[in-house]
Amino acid sequence: MIALYRVGVRGPYRTKMIKYLGSKRKIVPHILMQIQQLPVRSVCDLFTGTTRVAQACKRGGMYVVANDLAGYSAVLAQAFIATNAECIDRERLQAHIDHLNALPGVPGYFTRTFCEEARYVHPHNGARIDAIRAEIERLSLTENEHAVLLAALLLAADKVDSTTGVQMAYLKQWAPRALKNMELTLPELISGEGVASQEDAIAFARAGGTRDLDLTYIDPPYNQHSYAGNYHVWETLVRNDAPEAYGVARKRADIRGVRNPWNSKPRFRATLMELLTAVESRYILLSFSNEGFVPSAEMELMLGEFGNVSRTDIDFRRYIGAQIGVHNPAGEKVGTVSHTRNVEHLFLVDRG
Ligand SMILES: C[S@@+](CC[C@H](N)C(=O)[O-])C[C@H]1O[C@@H](n2cnc3c(N)ncnc32)[C@H](O)[C@@H]1O
Repeated sequence: MIALYRVGVRGPYRTKMIKYLGSKRKIVPHILMQIQQLPVRSVCDLFTGTTRVAQACKRGGMYVVANDLAGYSAVLAQAFIATNAECIDRERLQAHIDHLNALPGVPGYFTRTFCEEARYVHPHNGARIDAIRAEIERLSLTENEHAVLLAALLLAADKVDSTTGVQMAYLKQWAPRALKNMELTLPELISGEGVASQEDAIAFARAGGTRDLDLTYIDPPYNQHSYAGNYHVWETLVRNDAPEAYGVARKRADIRGVRNPWNSKPRFRATLMELLTAVESRYILLSFSNEGFVPSAEMELMLGEFGNVSRTDIDFRRYIGAQIGVHNPAGEKVGTVSHTRNVEHLFLVDRG
């Protein structure tokens, strides 16, 4: 069975989040609607990224486990999924946010690497990022408070960046938002229980991470673009480890030459089959773009090996970078993109 929808974004799902390639911002209502039609009380979001889908499920009253390989995603998951809004001292956190916002800038690694050697953020805000990042480590914080303050810093820094949404390149001229003063705000936290995890998805599923959970949501990288490369600035900001950087983009030297099988067309199918075999939930919901490595008909056949499959097609605009145009490493516009719409397929597998 195939259903087709065109989408817009509805109010309560429009949470403030970092700009992210492949983010499910626009289709979260559809994903949630599908899940809510099932007898599902617990969900594992295996490639949680911005945590948008996990957040919607948690707001919908479900128990949520949010996993991703990236460190910045784990911070967002700790703040939005593992932290119960009922159990956090908002006044204390607000006082920390006010204190961090009042700190004078102290240029350090972030400013030098990402604002002078590259131009992702204006040096004025870069120096404040350096000062705030260092101060977060000096404050006496619980694990959840630490994650909430780091998430606030990530969200604030993203609002004043000078990119088209990925960190392979930056704009030649400062984006107008980059000239604004960065301002941390207390993120809107969510009531309820959840868990954050930072593991390889297959390792996590093999270790029983999806056991006893009703549904596993799978939204893997779907093309050759590596998240480690595209969001290296956020990764370095949360790790706070001042790595050696290379190239115009000033990427972390430790990701140089590292190949993720999810970003490889020849390896993608086998990797997905390995994951599907390891997942233990009754339901699997898989998001896949029409721009991905596997055509939808073939994907349906692959998933059919694991249970009954139904498919929903959602037509929406491509990510903001695609709408702005194609840029070279210096951030200059060098071409236009072939199309600005894509179709997101949602495959539901019931192994009941
Ligand atoms: C398409 S994005 C997910 C977007 C997310 N659903 C959202 O709405 O923000 C794919 C995610 O897979 C993560 N990832 C890449 N390789 C991974 C792996 N081996 N295990 C777990 N996560 C991985 C990336 O860090 C990225 O966040």
